[in-house]
Amino acid sequence: MQNNTFSPLIVGQKIVALQSVDSTNSYLRIELANSAPLAEGTVIMAEDQYAGRGQLNNNWHSQPGKNLTISILLNPSFLRPDYQFKLNIAISLAINDTLKDIGINSKIKWPNDVYYNDNKIGGVLIENILSGQKWKHAIVGIGLNVNQTQFPLPVHNISSIKEILQQDYDKERLLQQLCKAIDVRYSELKKGAGKQLDEYLDNLFWFNETHVFSIGKEKQEGKIVGLDQAGRLLIEIGGATHSFNMKEVSFVIP
Ligand code: BTN
Repeated sequence: MQNNTFSPLIVGQKIVALQSVDSTNSYLRIELANSAPLAEGTVIMAEDQYAGRGQLNNNWHSQPGKNLTISILLNPSFLRPDYQFKLNIAISLAINDTLKDIGINSKIKWPNDVYYNDNKIGGVLIENILSGQKWKHAIVGIGLNVNQTQFPLPVHNISSIKEILQQDYDKERLLQQLCKAIDVRYSELKKGAGKQLDEYLDNLFWFNETHVFSIGKEKQEGKIVGLDQAGRLLIEIGGATHSFNMKEVSFVIP
């Protein structure tokens, strides 16, 4: 991970710690709508998030007190709104950097799930607020399973940092490490993203490997070969490359 010694940290400069909230993303959105402007980099964290939201309208379950459930305010007005996927890449890389730094060889499952082997240990939900043609705010919601070891059935393919490292991990320390990593990746992005797409692909779950995907009603074998400009997944199937959005494809994980 590159270290940026010249720009001051903005992510985590203000942390609002809540005991209990429905969703940190929803809380941050309401704060933005109701109150004085919030500083970029403000983090909302909750011990108990009782109605957490995930991608594709799924719920995000997190056992109270065990995990990181946070939302970070970013103002990526330097990016065109149609390049939103670049922020996804920067955030996914930052989470991956953080986990690698603590000894976990994680992968990014497109678009921005956090995987260790075949198990999900975290997820990201970025919600955008536009003003006309400009990207005003991004609410970057991150859920990371830290010390939870029991998960509700029928959920499977799920794990946590504790299960992987076989010991508790200090959540506050992890939050500091994560904020720093996001700061580094976000300032890289501000300077033009550089090699972030290449690094993302290097760390992508199932990249360049043949696996089974669920596409529409069919199961098909294919190989992830990249992303298009809009961040759609490019899969080579039977010699031809097709692009997919999140609703169109899912991974068939054994
Ligand atoms: C996913 O993998 O589906 C994304 C999960 C994102 C969960 C986080 S937890 C903090 C923030 N608040 C929410 O309601 N969701 C995100």
